[in-house]
Amino acid sequence: MDYSKLKIPNHVALIVDGNGRWATEKGMNRSAGHKQGFLNLKKLTAYIFSKDIHYISAYLFSTENFKRSQMEVSFIMGLLTNQLKDILNFCHEEKIKAIFSGRKENLSDKVLKAMEEIEKETKMYEEKTFNICFNYGGHTEIIDATKKIVKDVQKGKLDINTLDENTYSKYLYHNLPPIDLMIRTSGEQRLSNFMLWQNSYAEFYFPKTYFPDFDEKEFDKAILEYTKRDRRFGGIDYENKSH
Ligand code: FPP
Repeated sequence: MDYSKLKIPNHVALIVDGNGRWATEKGMNRSAGHKQGFLNLKKLTAYIFSKDIHYISAYLFSTENFKRSQMEVSFIMGLLTNQLKDILNFCHEEKIKAIFSGRKENLSDKVLKAMEEIEKETKMYEEKTFNICFNYGGHTEIIDATKKIVKDVQKGKLDINTLDENTYSKYLYHNLPPIDLMIRTSGEQRLSNFMLWQNSYAEFYFPKTYFPDFDEKEFDKAILEYTKRDRRFGGIDYENKSH
């Protein structure tokens, strides 16, 4: 699709949902859905970045996902470690900087090492940032930032009276630009504790498609819909007659 006449978001967020249902409805186990989701994520990420979109954040494992069966949790964790080489090759081919957001606790040393290596090996890429939310929760991100702020205030490194949105953002897991378009696949219409701070003025899009089937054409539809949205950020566009 020709994107030249469309509105292009700077930061797209993806709640990757429906992998389990995709597999179950095909008579496969849930892990097969996650594997297909992983393959789709790589294809889709390359496509999104090819459209001059500079930031992608993807919700791949929430702090709450630990409540799932041990088999499913270890399969998702395993994707990160078993596919480490493949992930690194992909990032190098596409010149993607990969970063992780989330708490380190409850993650195995193997997973932590894989994350560290991915971040270290890709930190030179400037144009495209892929923020992988893993063991992530929006409330915990805000709590963790607040703790760091209190520490800096106590040490005299930060004057509490100067604390504003800009300064607060610097204490989050990463200082990322606001999310413009937030897509949750599979028909669920919830934020599920995902990037609460960064989603404050995002446009939401909820396709019914399960994530493994959310391909380039589906993403084009999301951008067409985003182009139609009138973003006012709390203000009013008085030139626009419909107001
Ligand atoms: C949501 O679908 C998906 C997840 C909780 C996991 C997503 C993980 C991947 C796409 C692969 C991870 C890749 C790396 C590199 C770690 P669901 O299981 O909630 O589906 P359902 O709602 O149909 O049950």
